[in-house]
Amino acid sequence: MKKIFLDLGNQPLANNFSKKYIPPIFRLKLKFDTKSKLVMINKHMEKERMFNKSYPYRSSKSKLVRELFKELSKKIKKKLNPENILEIGCNDGSFASNFNKEKVVCVEPCSDVAKEAKKKGLRVYVNYFDDLLIKLLLKNHQKFDLIFSANTITHISDLNSVFANITQILADHGTFIIEEPSLLETIKKNSYDQFYNEHIYVFSTIALQNILKKNKLEIYDVENIKVHGGSNRYYIKKKKNKKIKISLRFKKNLNLEKRFGINTFACYKKFSKRVQKSKKELIKLLKKIKENNQKIIGYGASAKAVTILNYCNLKENYFDFFYDTTQQKIGKFLPGTRINVLKYKKLRDNKTYVFLGAWNFYKEILKKEKSFYMNSGKFITHIPYPRII
Ligand code: SAM
Ligand code: TMP
Repeated sequence: MKKIFLDLGNQPLANNFSKKYIPPIFRLKLKFDTKSKLVMINKHMEKERMFNKSYPYRSSKSKLVRELFKELSKKIKKKLNPENILEIGCNDGSFASNFNKEKVVCVEPCSDVAKEAKKKGLRVYVNYFDDLLIKLLLKNHQKFDLIFSANTITHISDLNSVFANITQILADHGTFIIEEPSLLETIKKNSYDQFYNEHIYVFSTIALQNILKKNKLEIYDVENIKVHGGSNRYYIKKKKNKKIKISLRFKKNLNLEKRFGINTFACYKKFSKRVQKSKKELIKLLKKIKENNQKIIGYGASAKAVTILNYCNLKENYFDFFYDTTQQKIGKFLPGTRINVLKYKKLRDNKTYVFLGAWNFYKEILKKEKSFYMNSGKFITHIPYPRII
């Protein structure tokens, strides 16, 4: 049974940056499946509406993302030494370009992003990861020793079909690595902004294992990584491959989640109450700043910021503009609002309050804006509760 636990109000498509104002188009609610323990959003948009020729997200925009991908690729070469690799949702090729181009095949449905990966010398199938593509991959390639996918699998609604397809194209000795935001971290940090139209699911280790097992796959190791506000890197194998041992880290993660109650509906009811409180407090904080006639801008026009601003109804009446480094977002409105996204400039005016839309890159931002921060410049965040830093 699927039970709703939170209503995040009317929301737009989180990456629909446009020069024209586009109002919110759907009601975003969160639900928990009592059987599989999966947490998901209630409305699934057609993939073509979200991932098409003009998709603005670029992995390479974050130093942390680039560094973690580089580090992981070194580890993969050393420990797994794969001869043929598939990446699903390669975006601009930030991960795949760390490997010998002859050994990698990529899948990326958004043609504008795929073009950037191709410029790096990568072979890219400009397709969705679906049954049709599987036939093509099986025809043109050997089964893969390594399949990698970061922040993509939770964007695809039919998980059973994804994992059944993985079983077909993964070599029997192969490893499938997924990176996705951690549900435990999301709840601990009260980061309800992890939910938007593209994040159809936020995985717990418990739920992911339940679904994988139905498709003859299983997690054998989990790494907790810092990116995107706290993610998990899951190492997955075929169930019939008994050569790889299940790690202690996997068991520890499972136990931590169980102890936290992530497999119970009560956990989500509590989370829902904390989120509603966070909304009230953030509105109060920003209202007070505006009443003192002070200026607020946003830093990082992330999909997360879109969820927060639309849920809390904090729009152009609160924010002067948002800074962002992404070319495809600049000169457009933050979805669901009339807030302009401007080309990033180093922060100088220490009287302006700066809301961290990209709070998950806080350390990276603080390094860049050291002079602003050291000069009494003030950041606002809502993580883990609304406050001025
Ligand atoms: N993997 C990169 C990373 O972690 O930085 C990009 C993540 S981005 C949030 C999600 C990527 O998945 C986008 O580039 C998108 O086009 C791609 N994607 C979405 N749906 C997909 C599907 N059905 N099949 C393959 N790729 C998909
Ligand atoms: P994400 O949380 O979905 O990765 O989005 C982060 C957004 O923040 C993305 O549009 C890039 C932007 N950004 C900046 O503008 N400056 C920065 O220093 C960082 C780290 C991100």
